[in-house]
Amino acid sequence: MKRIILLAGFVLALLAGYALARIFNGQNGNKKTDDGCTACQACETAAPSAVNPAEYQSPNPDHMQSVRDFLHKTGYYFIATADGDQPQVRPFGTAEIIEGKLYIQTGHVKNVAKQIAANPKVAICAYDGERWLRITATLVEDPRVEVKKAMLDANPGLRSMYDENDDNTAVYFLKDAKATFNSFTAAPVEVDF
Ligand SMILES: Cc1cc2nc3c(=O)[nH]c(=O)nc-3n(C[C@H](O)[C@H](O)[C@H](O)COP(=O)(O)O)c2cc1C
Repeated sequence: MKRIILLAGFVLALLAGYALARIFNGQNGNKKTDDGCTACQACETAAPSAVNPAEYQSPNPDHMQSVRDFLHKTGYYFIATADGDQPQVRPFGTAEIIEGKLYIQTGHVKNVAKQIAANPKVAICAYDGERWLRITATLVEDPRVEVKKAMLDANPGLRSMYDENDDNTAVYFLKDAKATFNSFTAAPVEVDF
């Protein structure tokens, strides 16, 4: 009888511990932030990607190359993020293929980086005077110094503001990207990479 009571007590303690952990971390298992946020959808959106940047390769290198070349031809593009339910858009110029992935670059201090951290889905648009390119993608941040260095080496003008060893430089690659080349005179061409 004593053993049964002990066993029951042990099981109850385990259940209580589990319930407390769920409450402390939020129901979806994500930790509460300092401001007490348990906004599950936002946390899930911002959950760290399971993708290993060192291993991931774009499934369609040719498509990715055509997009990179178009973005270099235009010289800049516009990238939209979600700031909660408010879209935000701004010009960007960085677009480099590094280790089989298309990367862009920004600074952690910028609002754009904070928006990407909260929701990594972005839309990009560029126009070369004849065709326009629209892209949707999910950004994956790559913390590796060698990739930041490759980005800055390809864009030496950025070195007056960024260094691969600072805490500010942020590089992201485009994952699950769907792109469409449009013009007024030809059918849309869809690519993904
Ligand atoms: C032509 C052009 C290219 C730019 N390229 C980049 C870029 O690649 N990365 C970046 O972080 N900012 C770039 N900027 C600056 C951003 O547009 C600017 O910092 C913007 O305010 C960032 O958005 P945010 O204020 O929502 O954070 C560029 C600006 C221009 C005019």
